[in-house]
Amino acid sequence: MTNHKMTARDVSVYYGQKRAIDNVSIDVDMDNVTAFIGPSGCGKSTFLRTLNRMNDTVASARVEGKIELDGHDIYSPDMDVVQLRARVGMVFQKPNPFPKSIYENVAYGPRIHGLAGAKSDLDQIVEKSLRRAGLWDEVKDRLTDSGTALSGGQQQRLCIARAIAVDPEVILMDEPCSALDPIATAKIEELIHELRGRYAIVIVTHNMQQAARVSQRTAFFHLGTLVEYGDTSAIFTNPREERTKDYITGRYG
Ligand SMILES: Nc1ncnc2c1ncn2[C@@H]1O[C@H](COP(=O)(O)OP(=O)(O)OP(=O)(O)O)[C@@H](O)[C@H]1O
Ligand SMILES: [Mg+2]
Repeated sequence: MTNHKMTARDVSVYYGQKRAIDNVSIDVDMDNVTAFIGPSGCGKSTFLRTLNRMNDTVASARVEGKIELDGHDIYSPDMDVVQLRARVGMVFQKPNPFPKSIYENVAYGPRIHGLAGAKSDLDQIVEKSLRRAGLWDEVKDRLTDSGTALSGGQQQRLCIARAIAVDPEVILMDEPCSALDPIATAKIEELIHELRGRYAIVIVTHNMQQAARVSQRTAFFHLGTLVEYGDTSAIFTNPREERTKDYITGRYG
């Protein structure tokens, strides 16, 4: 057994013949927010998606190597993928609430996963999840309004509430703030701070300041390889690799 929440060992990902990720090994821990940084096309999203098998939905994608969640191989035949995606939730770049009520957006997952027996249980899960996502006060009087009627930042917090509602262990966020203004972005960053420790969080970001603010561990990817992985403060103040230094100082990317 390992203490790590998730471990990836020698992971490579191919789209047809093309290798997008080359032999990446990484650990994801409970107590840290892990940031994935690197230039566009370096494979951040591809690698992130291997952690909850979202790449299963891409016909040409093939994963090699081993990824474990609490010591269990998530690519083994006995892994229930629907269950896996509840345990390892995902928040996307563009907020994507269902075209349903705010309440239903959050209640849907717990209902299909059988987490709530009575309506009152479900009400409680919805309230708790919206509170944790920092959205409750803004929506408590309009739970029957459509989720799509919220602002972009509110929609993104609704998507975080939706991920939280099924009681995940890991939350993957792929550039969750790139469609948001600075105030909505600050709210999400604050939220990440509050969620840290309760969930293992991995965030992909192009914003170096954001990586430095929200994460404790940073992984720098370049051309499908993991160039450097370590404490965020070390990566940003004293990178070991020239390529990392060039990227964080804005010399390319
Ligand atoms: N569905 C796909 N089919 C084929 N190739 C893909 C697919 N998705 C990504 N790729 C390729 O894999 C490589 C890595 O892409 P990926 O989207 O993981 O990069 P990224 O680091 O997330 O980039 P960005 O910062 O622009 O989001 C790229 O060369 C991309 O063209
Ligand atoms: Mg991406």
